[in-house]
Amino acid sequence: MRRYYIAGNWKMHKTIAEASELARRLKDQLAGTRHKVMIAPPFTALATVSQVLEGSNILLGAQNMGQAEQGAHTGEISVLMLKDIGVSVVILGHSERRLIYGETNELINAKVKLALAHGLEVILCVGETLAQREAGQVDQVVVDQVERGLSGVQEIGRITIAYEPVWAIGTGKNASPADADAVHKVIRQTIARRYGQAAADALIIQYGGSVKPENAAGLMAMENVDGALVGGACLTVDSFVPIVEFDRH
Ligand code: PGA
Repeated sequence: MRRYYIAGNWKMHKTIAEASELARRLKDQLAGTRHKVMIAPPFTALATVSQVLEGSNILLGAQNMGQAEQGAHTGEISVLMLKDIGVSVVILGHSERRLIYGETNELINAKVKLALAHGLEVILCVGETLAQREAGQVDQVVVDQVERGLSGVQEIGRITIAYEPVWAIGTGKNASPADADAVHKVIRQTIARRYGQAAADALIIQYGGSVKPENAAGLMAMENVDGALVGGACLTVDSFVPIVEFDRH
């Protein structure tokens, strides 16, 4: 049976008390899942959620990370601090980081390498805007983001790629399963060219953008969709658990 990787990106939501409560309930309700699950609370709740998740199969993720190990980087959080708390996965290159905070492929690439050098797993997010889709540039944009995000990365085993079309994030509009699969296939071919077919076959490619309990199974049925990166619907047990357990409902 296929094992999927479902991750929850909590974005800028939840106080420490709320985060702790949600993590406790997820730990409980997902104890029996056979899928790989990660949750990424805001930085302020990581330490508390890390304690809540002790002894659980749910991985702790961060939503971003600074580009240096330490030093004069006001407002940033370092990989060393994340590891210290028990974080094992970091989401990098999310479109909100790219578009609101001006993160470039070069900066994201530096962060990817730093995270890997410290033994973290990375979820590298890529995806086109609506204007790029309408201009017929989807493949070009996504391939460019994958290649530049992974520039100089030798070993791909700890990389997951999340395809998140920007127009589908938080909008209620998801890519159709066929559209998502087509882009995932292009991503897999890009990885095959650089790292060989075996690495490409083993690569987990998540889809992200308005994933909900109602559309999860349809997306996950596609050959090249190996999981999901969930935003809005990961904020409650009632919507996140059925997404993780999409094949039981
Ligand atoms: P959404 O967000 O599920 O709310 O569309 C997905 C994401 O940004 O990772």
